[in-house]
Amino acid sequence: MAAVDTTKIFRTDLFNGKVLLCSGGGSGICRGMTEAMVTHGAKAVIISRNFEKLQKAAEEMSKATNGEVIPVQADVRKPEDVERAVAKTIEKFGRIDFLINGAAGNFLAPFDGLSYNAFRTVIEIDLLGSFNLTKATMQHLRASKGSIINVSATLHYTGTIFQQHAGAAKAGIDALTKHWAVELGPSGVRVNGIAPGPIAATEGLSRLAGDLTDPQQIPVQRVGEVKDIAQATVFLFSEGATFITGQVVVVDGGHYLQTSNPAYPDSVLASVPDSKL
Ligand code: COA
Ligand code: NAP
Repeated sequence: MAAVDTTKIFRTDLFNGKVLLCSGGGSGICRGMTEAMVTHGAKAVIISRNFEKLQKAAEEMSKATNGEVIPVQADVRKPEDVERAVAKTIEKFGRIDFLINGAAGNFLAPFDGLSYNAFRTVIEIDLLGSFNLTKATMQHLRASKGSIINVSATLHYTGTIFQQHAGAAKAGIDALTKHWAVELGPSGVRVNGIAPGPIAATEGLSRLAGDLTDPQQIPVQRVGEVKDIAQATVFLFSEGATFITGQVVVVDGGHYLQTSNPAYPDSVLASVPDSKL
């Protein structure tokens, strides 16, 4: 049984004969997105910098799904690396139908603790990396009338503290989602984003929130799981979503809406009847 089980919701042959290329697919959220796509019939190539990690993840996913996942080492900041990864994908599988731009780097840093190079590094991985990989893949997506998911975040919706570098990068990615949707729509290529909220057992959550995420601060009263993002991925890449493009789907249980509300002091709440939720 695969770690991410979407088979109770979607048909298992949805993506038979299709090929996914996913950056950051060796760990966390993007590994779950990849595993779900392979569970539903796609073959996949996952890319990132650490080949040993990728290889282990590819073996485990192939075994769990009885599918085919291939690891290719590539740094998305380097155009020559992503072009090589695309060439290897075509050599191995002959086509690319789906692209996930998921590679990212992040850490908490206040304005004064963020060096010139730290800011540039995150912009280069997240924003330029998404452009680089998409540019290298586009001719194949046009040929297959394929689809892209850019992995975003909700940081820039509210001006999250210590997150200006990642927020700026993800805001840029959301802009690309819209520009690409408009420009590539006539070629048959759909482009959407997924903005996850806090997702349990991921590098992102442990770096940014540690154990601080309180389920009660999330309207649906739980922290997200990788499978929540995997389910949205399968839907957005499926025939069920052929009229959806240029959208960033927030998958966060209502988290960012709640965090935009002020934390009223008890003295104020005392004056509001029935204010305890
Ligand atoms: N706070 C402030 N600055 C930091 C930092 C932190 N926690 N971590 C790294 N930096 C700075 C470095 O000091 C360096 O700046 P400098 O040259 O002025 O000193 C700059 O960021 C680049 O760091 P470096 O380690 O050389 O970059 P890298 O390309 O090897 O790694 C990172 C990229 C920093 C984003 C690294 O954390 C990473 O590889 N992350 C991938 C996994 C991840 O972040 N997952 C969560 C996704 S939400
Ligand atoms: P993760 O496991 O650390 O995923 C990030 C991936 O990016 C890693 O596999 C990493 O692999 C790869 N990567 C980093 N730099 C790279 C580079 N230069 N070239 C190629 N690959 C690179 O973290 P995650 O928490 O699952 O995050 C996945 C995505 O979800 C990210 O886009 C993140 O911003 C987004 N997100 C996460 C959360 C959350 O709660 N976790 C919330 C909102 C958004 P290597 O180290 O091998 O390169």
